Amino acid sequence: MSGLDLRKRWFAAVYGRLDQRLKVATAPMRRELLSDLTGDILDVGCGPGTNFEHYRADAHVTAVDYSEHMLPLARRTLLALPQPHAVIEVRQADATDLPFRDASFDAYVSTLVLCSVDDLDAAVEEAWRVLRPGGALRLLEHIRSATPWKARLQSWLNPAWGLVADGCHLDRLTHRAFIERGFEVVEERHPDLPGEPMPVVALRARKPA
Ligand SMILES: C[S@@+](CC[C@H](N)C(=O)[O-])C[C@H]1O[C@@H](n2cnc3c(N)ncnc32)[C@H](O)[C@@H]1O
Repeated sequence: MSGLDLRKRWFAAVYGRLDQRLKVATAPMRRELLSDLTGDILDVGCGPGTNFEHYRADAHVTAVDYSEHMLPLARRTLLALPQPHAVIEVRQADATDLPFRDASFDAYVSTLVLCSVDDLDAAVEEAWRVLRPGGALRLLEHIRSATPWKARLQSWLNPAWGLVADGCHLDRLTHRAFIERGFEVVEERHPDLPGEPMPVVALRARKPA
């Protein structure tokens, strides 16, 4: 077993348990961010399927995760969803190299994922490619603090944190990378994540039509 596989296996075991607390704490912001999306939706880094209950019943969701250890948890969540619920297909894929045609989705969703991708620019480029013109981008991500000493602390903690949390970067400005690529901001909010010291961004944006 490679080091990367071990890291993914460990993270699936830990996050699968932590997820219950996080799920309750973040439910209102997920609902607010996701429940109006329609059409073909790509949920990248779906993990144990934390977002599934928040999609409209008439949506079609492709939920991907690069970790084969997360996929069974997502499938279990899908089986337990109360009816009616969205049509959801769970499959393995990497956010930095998506196996989908250009302009094949109406919406791209990432919640607490892009802090840990190795190549953020590649993930942003893939989001741009697979979204149709005018398509919706919805992000819920923890980000670097605007307070200098907290940002320095985040950078200092980064190496150790990355080892236990699947390569997570505490000090990324993930949403900025999307805005710099050309996504148009519809709404940027910074809600408190209950019980979490990390600043969070909830971004609604769109690819220009
Ligand atoms: C912290 S969990 C978040 C899960 C879920 N989105 C949520 O909001 O609870 C991060 C997930 O992203 C996945 N992930 C990390 N890097 C990825 C990548 N490059 N491509 C696809 N999934 C990735 C991990 O396997 C993990 O399931």
